[in-house]
Amino acid sequence: MKIRLSILISSVLFMGGCATQPKNENINTSENIAGKEVFISKCTMCHSATMPKSDAEKNALIAPAMRGVMKHMRMEFGNDTKAMSSFMKDYIVNPSKEKSLCQKDKIARFGLMPSQKDALTPKELDDVVDYLIGAYN
Ligand code: HEC
Repeated sequence: MKIRLSILISSVLFMGGCATQPKNENINTSENIAGKEVFISKCTMCHSATMPKSDAEKNALIAPAMRGVMKHMRMEFGNDTKAMSSFMKDYIVNPSKEKSLCQKDKIARFGLMPSQKDALTPKELDDVVDYLIGAYN
């Protein structure tokens, strides 16, 4: 059987060239399981883990969905996950209108996020931020 190596190679190269995903090299791709548990137990009562699918779901939100939040983090910090991480760690325990990167209508609708300082240990804060940056990229 004659293998058409050049076609094989060029199609592999072509597929490689088609990758549209931006490279997030400084992102830890292994899931932070402890952080996921913190997110589910301490954040999802306000921040939905998925985007709302209907108007009813949208109207029922009491905080922006986490994908929307992380999209804004991405818009502000791009792939600078270090800066993103320190912003988030600070905001979660010490939120303010001035710091918020959410659109202003979100604060008008939902109010400011209450500080989670007493809800999280320092390790839980590290883990949840690490998880979110990895999971919503
Ligand atoms: C009692 C409800 C509530 C809980 C619990 C909560 N949040 Fe929020 N969060 C909000 C609201 C409302 C906003 C939007 C207003 C704002 O930005 O302050 C927000 C905004 C944010 C933002 C965007 C900050 C910005 O730039 O405005 C981040 C990041 C965030 N939350 C992370 C978390 C994480 C992580 C947890 C769990 C440890 C959490 N939140 C728990 C209500 C909550």
